[in-house]
Amino acid sequence: MVEFDVEADFISKEEAKELMLWVDNNEYNDKLFPKVSEAGPSDNRVTTRFAKESAFPDVAFRIQKRILDKYHYKDFVDIEPIGAGTGMIAIKVYPGDQGSFPHVDPKLKGRDAVRCNIVLQNAEVGGLLRIEGEVMSTPDRALHAYNVTKLLHHITPTEGSTCRYVWLFGVHMPWKAEDFSPILFNKSRREATANLCWEGFDKLLKHAKAFYPESPNPLDLLTLNYRGNWQELLDQVTKSS
Ligand SMILES: [Fe+2]
Repeated sequence: MVEFDVEADFISKEEAKELMLWVDNNEYNDKLFPKVSEAGPSDNRVTTRFAKESAFPDVAFRIQKRILDKYHYKDFVDIEPIGAGTGMIAIKVYPGDQGSFPHVDPKLKGRDAVRCNIVLQNAEVGGLLRIEGEVMSTPDRALHAYNVTKLLHHITPTEGSTCRYVWLFGVHMPWKAEDFSPILFNKSRREATANLCWEGFDKLLKHAKAFYPESPNPLDLLTLNYRGNWQELLDQVTKSS
């Protein structure tokens, strides 16, 4: 296992189609896709993240099993308590979604979480995964996995005329996930940023925008270019009113 693991063609075109059809047929079902806004600047997406019940079709469970087998996860991981206990989430992102802030997911009970994601269909423009400021390659139907509780990550805004569909499955690692050791680049920044609450992110984003008013990704630029003490900057920015 590596920090960012990709396997091309992890699911077939038919499987991807079947999952997308399930999303299209259920996106107006409030029990499966509750209308709760995710933390983000301005969203234009539906998700089963907050669903109280799960009704994933068999194909989702078949893919889940393939992942558990691939990583030999069965014996030593727990499924993340998301997606009504299935560990699975489906997301459909419409053009015009603003993406998410760079963040590190919180650890539940101190445990690392690895997300195994499959982009069923990429957006026409944007909707890119950035980890530690770098754009990662996530082709349609490939499996990509990384440690979301260690690595600073976010999705860029989407444009164009087609939707972006994602299906994911999350697992909790045992107490340490050495195999998914964090990318050394920016380690101290990541750890410092991980402790920010959303209000903190908001302030940091405003600060970044003041420096890079023209950029669509000001926080990325600030993260990459700031040469001073990152923790001191965060303290200064987040404690100001
Ligand atoms: Fe995340």
